[in-house]
Amino acid sequence: MTHLAVFASGTGSNARCIVDFLAQSPCARVRLVVSNKPQAPVLAMARERDIPTLVVDRAYFYESERLLDVLAEYDIGFIALAGFLWLVPPYLVRAYWRRMVNLHPALLPAYGGKGMYGMRVHEAVKAAGEPETGITIHYVNERYDEGDIIFQARCPVAPDDTPADIARKVQALEHEHFPRLLERLICPTPEDTAA
Ligand code: GAR
Repeated sequence: MTHLAVFASGTGSNARCIVDFLAQSPCARVRLVVSNKPQAPVLAMARERDIPTLVVDRAYFYESERLLDVLAEYDIGFIALAGFLWLVPPYLVRAYWRRMVNLHPALLPAYGGKGMYGMRVHEAVKAAGEPETGITIHYVNERYDEGDIIFQARCPVAPDDTPADIARKVQALEHEHFPRLLERLICPTPEDTAA
């Protein structure tokens, strides 16, 4: 069984989908939820499900490597960033190279980078009059949203869609694909390995 840590700062709807989907998985479980916001609803979601939580502040995350000890303590083999907005420091990128992925609510490389998160992304997509948007799941490197892309899924943007409408469509894609893709990355089938 591979243990997954989910890092999240927001409502945690994706974290919840991942936790619940992997609860049935033969090979992966969410073992830890990490947040930089003590009041983040994602922490309550985790506690309700008896999943350990860790709140980090900037000094802990950037000026020490103590997080690695906690990840080792929980035997974390893979990390999913699901609405975690801090840049990941080099020590953590190195320790989880190709074992840490991020979910982004647009079709990277468009609409990515520092400051591009949540509704800001959907507002920019709307302002540009894009006919479609979607989600990107990519490996994490030391720069915002620039790691190698693993998966994208698309949805149309109608001319009268508001940013909130776009957000709903994108969130539906996230909930559908992210938990399943994580399971495939963590426990590849023989077909995945051959591909
Ligand atoms: C998700 O839409 C995710 O793609 C986005 O934050 C949201 C978290 O939602 N991430 C970024 O924008 C990263 N740049 P949730 O808290 O409901 O899971």
